Amino acid sequence: MNMLWLPLDRTLEVPLTRQLYHQLRQKILNGELQAGQRLASTRQLADELKVSRNVILEAYEQLYAEGFIQGLHGSGTYVSEGASLEQSMDQYPLSLTDNSSNKHETNMIDFRSGIPALDLFPRNTWGKLVKRVSIETSHTSFGYDSPEGRLELREVLTDYLLRTRGVRYHPNQLVITSGATQGLSLVAKLLISTHNEVIIEDPITHEIQSIFQSQGASLYPVPVDEHGMKTDLIPLDKKPNFIFVTPSHQFPLGGTLTIQRRIQLIEFARRTKCFIVEDDYDSEFRYEGSPISSLQGLYPERTIYIGTFSKILSPALRLGYLILPPELVERCRDLKWFSDLHTPSLDQLSLANFIEEGHLERHIFKMKKVYMRKRETLRSGLKASFKDKVEIFGDSTGLHLVARFIEVTFNDEVLKELRENKVKVYPVELHTMEKGAYKDCVILGYGNLSDEQIKEGIFRIKDALKI
Ligand SMILES: Cc1ncc(COP(=O)(O)O)c(C=O)c1O
Repeated sequence: MNMLWLPLDRTLEVPLTRQLYHQLRQKILNGELQAGQRLASTRQLADELKVSRNVILEAYEQLYAEGFIQGLHGSGTYVSEGASLEQSMDQYPLSLTDNSSNKHETNMIDFRSGIPALDLFPRNTWGKLVKRVSIETSHTSFGYDSPEGRLELREVLTDYLLRTRGVRYHPNQLVITSGATQGLSLVAKLLISTHNEVIIEDPITHEIQSIFQSQGASLYPVPVDEHGMKTDLIPLDKKPNFIFVTPSHQFPLGGTLTIQRRIQLIEFARRTKCFIVEDDYDSEFRYEGSPISSLQGLYPERTIYIGTFSKILSPALRLGYLILPPELVERCRDLKWFSDLHTPSLDQLSLANFIEEGHLERHIFKMKKVYMRKRETLRSGLKASFKDKVEIFGDSTGLHLVARFIEVTFNDEVLKELRENKVKVYPVELHTMEKGAYKDCVILGYGNLSDEQIKEGIFRIKDALKI
């Protein structure tokens, strides 16, 4: 470890922890740091690099969370097995210079997932930007525009995503969409013909299943556990058109795909020449460690990355994006044009300014604290009310968690009972393909509930379940 060259640049905006994490991760991926190799202690490395121990600790924790290293708090920290990946990314340089439902039932406490805190949308800032764009933009912005979206937004997004998510691409590879949902539909149209096979996580939202099926796909479900898709269960003789994953925060169970599984997926995709579709819908809100790097950053050649502003800002904006391998861009632009010509230009320009002026990152920073508090209210409330009759998982990221209630089956009768008690919860079984394994589990979204509503909701659940 003493021999490693780990230059930290204090003049960059990128935090030192992130710089260190990236360098160590890269050295593990490219084999410079090999499986079993011991890393310097946090104290030793902090001394050597002249940084605080916390910088090292956070970088190590992040690498540990992603499976790159092991033994974090034990006797020494070592590089994990299976975390190196043969690189073939030279053609993707990091340089960017080259050119719900709205039905509201009175007094219902609705634990619907994926809704951000609507009362905290930055109305004033957004309003000012919309006004400014409307007044100041050139009159050509009020005409028809290009299907891939405004260059201003594609450029700021490219910079933002590289910095925050390790997504590597040229702005030409990005198509602005009306939310992730349109991104998913475009992917389905691009890649699926009738009876084509798609490998998909099970469970996964039934909406996504329907989008792929409506295009004629036959879905091959692969079970997930607390580390995301169980990639070793993908039969080697499968030849799917693509594999669909939510690697940063599996929906709904909440696991994060380990580096070993990411590599397995990439190796499978390379061998079978299929694509990987990465849906990264809410990973900005990671409460333990910093955001997990994208799968796309490891395998840009054949990964399609789907992002959205629905969770970090508002689903009403209907703003999302697709990042595509170069060979798919032209057809995707055509499909987007057939679908709706383009996403509204003024909204795109407002968002570009919102990101460029730093409002997005400030908003995420603020909201992370809010969601952490709500998550804690929910977790501690569930534990206090149900003690060892409840198990909580999938809560390290995002706006929901999953609760398993021992000895409860969330059948129609129980759900009706809950609704009559003015509380709505969402069974995981709604989203499973192989039925039965999650009968006792519900998804509890907390993003748009106040602490009081969360507490009251738990009280109503307890009252209805009578446990
Ligand atoms: C896993 C997943 N992907 C995509 C979406 C769609 O998001 P959007 O509002 O951007 O269409 C959702 C919505 O909740 C989701 O849960």
